[in-house]
Amino acid sequence: MKRSAEPFGVRICGTGSCVPARVLSNDDLSKLVDTNDEWIVQRTGIRERRVCDLSREGTFTMARDSLKNALDAAGMKGSELDLIIVGTVTAEMTCPSVAARVGAALGAVPAAAFDLSAACCGFVYSMNLAQALIQSGQFRTIGVVGSECMSSIVDYTDRTVSILFGDAAGAAILKRDPDPRIGCLYSTMGADGSGWSSLYIPRREQEVPECDRDSPIALGHLRMNGKEVFRFAVTKFREVIEDAMSKTGLTPESVGQVICHQSNIRIIESAREKLGLPSEKVFINIDRFGNSSAGSVGLCLDQLWRAGKIEKERPFVMVAFGGGLTWASGVWRI
Ligand code: COA
Repeated sequence: MKRSAEPFGVRICGTGSCVPARVLSNDDLSKLVDTNDEWIVQRTGIRERRVCDLSREGTFTMARDSLKNALDAAGMKGSELDLIIVGTVTAEMTCPSVAARVGAALGAVPAAAFDLSAACCGFVYSMNLAQALIQSGQFRTIGVVGSECMSSIVDYTDRTVSILFGDAAGAAILKRDPDPRIGCLYSTMGADGSGWSSLYIPRREQEVPECDRDSPIALGHLRMNGKEVFRFAVTKFREVIEDAMSKTGLTPESVGQVICHQSNIRIIESAREKLGLPSEKVFINIDRFGNSSAGSVGLCLDQLWRAGKIEKERPFVMVAFGGGLTWASGVWRI
């Protein structure tokens, strides 16, 4: 596509999400591992999470259904997409990508398609990349998805990891728009790979660091150093939100929603309090869905969008951190 001389914007035309019907409550978990509802609620804010029936659901089906919901909300067909990006670390296969299968299922052939691996930042990274690709003139209409079947990589004998994660997908349709005022006003993406071993999914023993060799968690499952991740996240989260707001001149009064990756209620609340953000501007659904990695921010966006809480006048912020270690933000005006 040729670059246009006229400036243009990027419209979020519709959003969608998908969560499996099966609920895994804290009481259910306490039958699997030595834990209890009170401990989990106090330390994380999570009461229940959704988990796939792996015989018929997973990252692909949730990605497909969330993108279909977003297309329906936008009044569009799959054939109108020219790229699909799926943020995920739980793809059923490394080849083909989840995105390619989603494209075929929704009639989006021959749209380009690829998966993006940035752990819990998957959706925010994908949104940032998609808007930049539209701004480059290369693509016009992009389906962005974050989809994660965490239950397929969680070891349900490990009480530190199993209590946190759930399954979900969220999606948005981005389209080039003649109005240059709308779209992404500011974005950041960062990573510090020196911290990779605090959150990782090893496939081979060779990849496991010396200090973790005795871990009882089987290969192919998520391993986490909760304390290290917490320490990193609690500072990084605040810094990233603060940066996004100051660079765009937003204040706690003028900003719309601040959509945080749902990692732990204590991490979100600590950032919210330090930044003086009112609680009604920081959406929380971790109590019902847990941490769904790349699914989390897209799910929040869809729930807020459908509730009419994303306002035209007030830019909203999306922010995430996760394995890598990675972090990302995006400030959007609709
Ligand atoms: N149920 C009951 N007790 C538990 C437990 C559980 N599920 N998990 C750990 N404990 C116990 C520990 O064994 C420890 O007992 P001890 O004091 O007798 O040794 C005690 O509770 C405190 O454990 P600790 O690991 O210090 O808890 P914590 O306050 O750090 O909370 C996490 C643990 C995992 C909830 C917290 O570290 C966290 O949320 N980290 C960030 C994780 C995250 O966000 N990951 C995703 C990033 S995208």
